[in-house]
Amino acid sequence: MQLGMAFWGSKTLLSAVELGVFSELAKKPRELESLRKALGLHPRAARDFLDALVSLGMLQRKGGVYSNTAETALFLDKGKPSYVGGILEMANSRLYPFWGSLTEGLKTGRQQNESKRGGDLFDELYRDPARLKEFCKAMTGISLGPARAIAAKFPWKTYRTFLDVGTAQGALPVTIALAHRHLRGTGLDLPVVEPIFREYVAQAGLSERLAFATCDFFKDELPKADVIVMGHILHDWSLEQKKALIAKVYRALPPGGAFIAYEALIDDERRENAFGLLMSLNMLIETAGGFDYTGADCRGWLREAGFRKTRVEHLVGPDSMVVGIK
Ligand SMILES: C[S@@+](CC[C@H](N)C(=O)[O-])C[C@H]1O[C@@H](n2cnc3c(N)ncnc32)[C@H](O)[C@@H]1O
Repeated sequence: MQLGMAFWGSKTLLSAVELGVFSELAKKPRELESLRKALGLHPRAARDFLDALVSLGMLQRKGGVYSNTAETALFLDKGKPSYVGGILEMANSRLYPFWGSLTEGLKTGRQQNESKRGGDLFDELYRDPARLKEFCKAMTGISLGPARAIAAKFPWKTYRTFLDVGTAQGALPVTIALAHRHLRGTGLDLPVVEPIFREYVAQAGLSERLAFATCDFFKDELPKADVIVMGHILHDWSLEQKKALIAKVYRALPPGGAFIAYEALIDDERRENAFGLLMSLNMLIETAGGFDYTGADCRGWLREAGFRKTRVEHLVGPDSMVVGIK
């Protein structure tokens, strides 16, 4: 029953992010009436809504005063660089309604989003500047955690340059560059993404060390770099397209160069990483032929492409990386 009704709690959180509950409370803790007015809520359900958030562990209430928990203050206040709510904003506006037709997707094998009638998600999404920005910010939300883990766990000292393929806002290059001052990096993406990347990189004060490369990774070869990263890229595409991308990465790396693919990798037994398996269903909703995969699957594709050594390393939460050395 709890799982079947889980969307009640999920939508309550998503609406709280949409309404800016956590950002409002980050300014100062508030009593019910003052918070209700600040958020523009009707009196009927305001108390139930806020107390539901308390019961879900998303808010605290002491003596009638609501405040953030340590976690919601850190991760869901839009005013902080640690904000990861971009992915929840997109979950609220896009994924929540699209998942309503999961059954249709399962029966037809067709995507259930803006490109339901066929075509490429990015072509469709990126026609609207607001959706483009929302999507890129959502990617920052899903990638800040694994990017920090990659900054800490990968032996960056051995390398000088890196390329993040399909970089979106640039959360990964910014995180890596902040942690390792000797590195120069490039974020690669479609041309419409460039201003969004540049703005985010400039805010981090890294415009000198992080460049942008305009490239369609299906049409063009990749620029050369010592380390090439793909976060949530391979899962967007069919097996044939995944292998074509891996082959391009291989060609762009020097001998000894490294490829890092990070995602919510499914466990090899396909039993435990529910988030990874559900992410793969999300690829059914979102893409024409994408699917998530296990570490063993990916290591096999890398070996087939010629990578000499491969390994899987856990990052954080549901995310792991596959590393291949040319
Ligand atoms: C799912 S997002 C992943 C973003 C980021 N790597 C992360 O993990 O947070 C996929 C990215 O690939 C980019 N992309 C899609 N098709 C592309 C293409 N043909 N050439 C270059 N980039 C592309 C999109 O613009 C988007 O930024």
